[in-house]
Amino acid sequence: MTPLKNDRFIRALLRQPVDMTPVWMMRQAGRYLPEYRATRARAGNFMTLCQTPELACEVTLQPLARYALDAAILFSDILTVPDAMGLGLYFSEGEGPQFEKVVRCAADVEALGVPDPQQELRYVMDAVSLIRRELDGRVPLIGFSGSPFTLATYMVEGGSTKTFQHIKGLLFDQPEVAHQLLDVLAKSVTQYLNAQIAAGAQAVMIFDTWGGVLSTRDYLAFSLHYMQQIVDGLTREVDGQRVPVILFTKTGALWLEQMAATGCDALGLDWMLPIGVARQRVGQQVALQGNMDPCVLYASPERIKEEVSTVLASYGAGSGHVFNLGHGIHPQIDPDNVQVFIDSVHEYSRPYHSAEALSNAGVLA
Ligand code: CP3
Repeated sequence: MTPLKNDRFIRALLRQPVDMTPVWMMRQAGRYLPEYRATRARAGNFMTLCQTPELACEVTLQPLARYALDAAILFSDILTVPDAMGLGLYFSEGEGPQFEKVVRCAADVEALGVPDPQQELRYVMDAVSLIRRELDGRVPLIGFSGSPFTLATYMVEGGSTKTFQHIKGLLFDQPEVAHQLLDVLAKSVTQYLNAQIAAGAQAVMIFDTWGGVLSTRDYLAFSLHYMQQIVDGLTREVDGQRVPVILFTKTGALWLEQMAATGCDALGLDWMLPIGVARQRVGQQVALQGNMDPCVLYASPERIKEEVSTVLASYGAGSGHVFNLGHGIHPQIDPDNVQVFIDSVHEYSRPYHSAEALSNAGVLA
């Protein structure tokens, strides 16, 4: 494989020196881009887009053609795993994701098998290999999965939820069934991510979108415990190169220390906590990814630049920071504002990596 021409993202995740802070955006290939909307229209629907490697590859590369992004993320969805378990995922316009079958009792869980990534999820592995080939070492490729708890939320609810009625009902009334479901999901996700790594993913991220709705006790038992199992089971090195693992629990700032203790390489942060505070809490153990409020991109170019400066100043000097939004970019954002955002991260971060800044701050990296 071609060596990476731009390895800033991997270096920052490993807290090795960089010339400037790397940046990418969650949902960077998506509806805010007219070229994405055109490819999606050609595909007919979102699932066909995910399941056709050539189209998934095309949309993965679209934001890289516009912006100086430091990483590409596989175009897919976290719900491909429950779909591969036989639940029948579909998206109806304006409704968000939905499943034909739901999981509510012990018999439903017992019917679930661990999907073979080379069979039911072959299209994802084919997309990963194709994207790696097309990237030709320009930037690293990120693979991803949902966390077991987040996947279980959609599987038990049958789609999106505001109340968490069924998933929390299951945790409280049938905890052993919930654990059995989470266990099968942890095994499925481990195999799925290892297959993505074997196919060419150079870093992986676990999206725990809903862990933050749990009490601390339940978060540790039902979400973090299963992410720990995944971290323990992942391939961490390929051809002598570390494959960094990023854990992201949305609204999980209460639990950064426990998350860092899993042995992951980096934590994703939403925008609730200043990144400098997160760095003080866990910066010796892990890198940090985040954490500008995505709604800043609705503001003026001047205001966007100001917020970028604020986040960079909060993190301070040295490596270990991957700039990102605190959650996915919204479909209504003006692509010109994204240009301002990406370029200002690079421009304003250089001084934080100079020899002088590093020696003043007493940091080596
Ligand atoms: O970040 C990226 O660019 C990679 C692609 C990616 C998508 N979804 C593409 C997508 C990733 C990493 C995801 C993760 C995902 N999917 C999560 C976890 C991250 C998060 O946002 O918290 C969740 C919860 C899902 C489930 C899901 N898929 C939802 C809630 C939706 C939105 C439904 C809607 O209409 O807003 C999707 C669909 C989806 N996934 C889209 C994209 C670009 C939009 C589909 C479209 O084109 O209509």
